[in-house]
Amino acid sequence: MLQGKRVLLIIGGGIAAFKSLDLIRRLKERGCAVTPVLTKAGAEFVTPLSVSALAGVKVHDALFDLTSEAEMGHIELSRSADLVVVAPATADLMAKMAGGLANDLASTLLLATDKRVLIAPAMNVRMWDHPATQRNLATLRGDGVLTVGPNEGDMACGEYGPGRMAEPLEIVAAIGAALAAGPLKGKHILVTSGPTHEPIDPVRYIANRSSGAQGTAIAAALAALGAEVTFVTGPADVPPPQGVRVVRVQTAREMLEAVQAALPADAAVFAAAVADWRVASASASKIKKDGKGLPTLEFAENPDILATVSQMTDGRPGLVVGFAAETDDVIGHATAKRARKGCDWILANDVSPETGIMGGTENAVTLITAEGAEDWPRMGKDEVARRLAQRIADAITVG
Ligand code: CTP
Repeated sequence: MLQGKRVLLIIGGGIAAFKSLDLIRRLKERGCAVTPVLTKAGAEFVTPLSVSALAGVKVHDALFDLTSEAEMGHIELSRSADLVVVAPATADLMAKMAGGLANDLASTLLLATDKRVLIAPAMNVRMWDHPATQRNLATLRGDGVLTVGPNEGDMACGEYGPGRMAEPLEIVAAIGAALAAGPLKGKHILVTSGPTHEPIDPVRYIANRSSGAQGTAIAAALAALGAEVTFVTGPADVPPPQGVRVVRVQTAREMLEAVQAALPADAAVFAAAVADWRVASASASKIKKDGKGLPTLEFAENPDILATVSQMTDGRPGLVVGFAAETDDVIGHATAKRARKGCDWILANDVSPETGIMGGTENAVTLITAEGAEDWPRMGKDEVARRLAQRIADAITVG
């Protein structure tokens, strides 16, 4: 699976760097070429000589190295591999990545690359748990960076907890998964998910019961088939999946803007439960009980994101998929909805409270296309997602 692949391996400064020597060996055994980059701190733990001896090529360690700039500039170096792997990814390297710094060779390569990045964090447990590191981790995941580990266990510093770098074979498996050539490789797919929050005043909002579970599962299933996914999500209960670019929004109008900014796309799946209405003029200050009676809320209609994108004359995604959450005459309403909105497919589901679907783990859907309605048996939301992702792959990769 790794035969003929190329990995740019950035070795950061941590005691776990010694495991990266074994990682190089394991990758080479599998026919994967490794171009090593050693940070200044990394070179305190492993020598350039042992790294280059194992990799069988020169190790890169300086940003302003004229010889190597003449041979291969740092921009080219950052793009020459199929995947960039950072192991160990120290707290400092993660912070640099999250902040977009480029003050040495490793951070410059990470900022310049157009390839996927997989990090294997390794650090003291307190450093890992620190809010700053967790904030950086969330930012990196939101940028689509993949992670493997850290594992829990005894640490070189004598403490116990999460922070140990994943074992070389676990990293090899994560590299294999990241490089797997799925049918959607090279396709950009947009997914909306979660509810929207429509403000009433600075402390109150109108929302709905969507957990974001179905949209998250769809984004994960599309990414697993190799798609490049932009995941536009409202404030959901479940965290976004790994390996997708996350754009967080609150309101329907923000969601529409984020969707338009993310186009063009080969396909788009609109799984968000967008609020149909917003409060016409949300109050800038908290609405008080001022003794003048009950407040009256006036509503305005939100843009219909699915209909807007479905009816684009220029740059419409090749396949547009919507959902129809209904409580009665599910197929009738959903078929009419497909025609009214102009999308290609609708996944219709019955969200009556007795079905337990809204906010639950299962879903029972009917796929409505130009050819008619196709009932899917009740199954887990992950399974619905995998089935839909495969259907999308079949539809947009033919010919
Ligand atoms: N949708 C959207 N923007 C909106 C409302 C809905 O993009 N402002 C999308 C949803 O993501 C979903 C589909 O439209 O894919 C249908 O959502 P649903 O709530 O079932 O339909 P509504 O358009 O709200 O129609 P109705 O209220 O008549 O059921």
